[in-house]
Amino acid sequence: MDDLEKEAYADIESAENPEELKKLRIKYVGRKSDLTRNLRGLKDLTLEEKRTLAPKLQKIKRSIEELLDSKEREFSSIKEAAKADLTRPGIRHRTGHLHPLTIMERKVVDIFSSMNFSVVDGPEVETEHYNFDALNIPANHPAREMWDTFWLKPSATSEIIAKNLQISEGAKERPGERLLLRTHTSPMQVRYLETHTPPLQIIVPGRVFRYEATDASHEANFYQVEGLMVGKDVSLANFKYVIGEFLKKMFGSETEFRFRPSYFPFTEPSLEVDIRLVGGKSKSNANLKAIAESRKSDWLEVMGAGMVNQKVFEAAHYNPGEWRGFAFGVGLERLAMLKYKIPDIRLFYGDDLRFIDQF
Ligand code: DAH
Repeated sequence: MDDLEKEAYADIESAENPEELKKLRIKYVGRKSDLTRNLRGLKDLTLEEKRTLAPKLQKIKRSIEELLDSKEREFSSIKEAAKADLTRPGIRHRTGHLHPLTIMERKVVDIFSSMNFSVVDGPEVETEHYNFDALNIPANHPAREMWDTFWLKPSATSEIIAKNLQISEGAKERPGERLLLRTHTSPMQVRYLETHTPPLQIIVPGRVFRYEATDASHEANFYQVEGLMVGKDVSLANFKYVIGEFLKKMFGSETEFRFRPSYFPFTEPSLEVDIRLVGGKSKSNANLKAIAESRKSDWLEVMGAGMVNQKVFEAAHYNPGEWRGFAFGVGLERLAMLKYKIPDIRLFYGDDLRFIDQF
């Protein structure tokens, strides 16, 4: 029986298909097999012999059956696998990616870093002083209407100071001063001038807030990048070169831009920079043409800029006339809309993956 067990093992291991296995099952544990016959013959033996032989034979039978069963399972799983259609499409794994505005901010930072600008951060909760007065926008001046403002309740002010939220030192120095959500990144001009000595050149990317209705080109919350360069003899010609480099690196060397006179209280003179949407050398598409049509112009303004008003230097405690600089403020969404030809600003904040996943 020991030899038979060994033989059975070897046969079963080398069986090549289910049919062969079926035959082996009959041969080794079937009704007419030696093993079954011997098991049946046990009844003719003495009690003593039965006691020693019966468990042995049963054990052999059980282990042969186990091996047969496991081999059978092996065959049936191969059969299952053969049935699977390996040409069917798999399940796509979603991978994370950056938001278009993050991509845009990093591009802006890269370009200005390459021109030796430092990147500076500022508080989103600002004081009336830095957001307005220090920028030559006094209370009751009509220029304030350029920025619809979210004011904080006076009771919120002390709470914010107590919780040590990101807020200017100024609020602690001038308790009782009104707080607001900054309407632009320009307040960082004065903050930075107060704590640093020129020559200097910085950009300030950041979130800003406007109390206004939302439409295709307006959001109550959006992103700006402020720029400031100050030195003994910085001029508008320097600005033209720097901003030209920036626009060409961002939109391609063919990019056409122009300066248009404008007004901001914190610059003198002030200007706006326009980019050509259609015509000229511009690579247009349907979305850009639609923007041009709705604005009734081939050009689109992308930033405000100018020579820093001496009143701003004075607000930062500089001697009037000692320093000169240029400043600019550009909307990040506006840049992204141009670069990626996006027709509606609300798409950035709409949480629609069909839009977001394209970046
Ligand atoms: N702060 C202005 C705005 O939000 C944009 C701006 C205009 C910034 C002219 C500047 C500048 O630095 O010189 O509308």
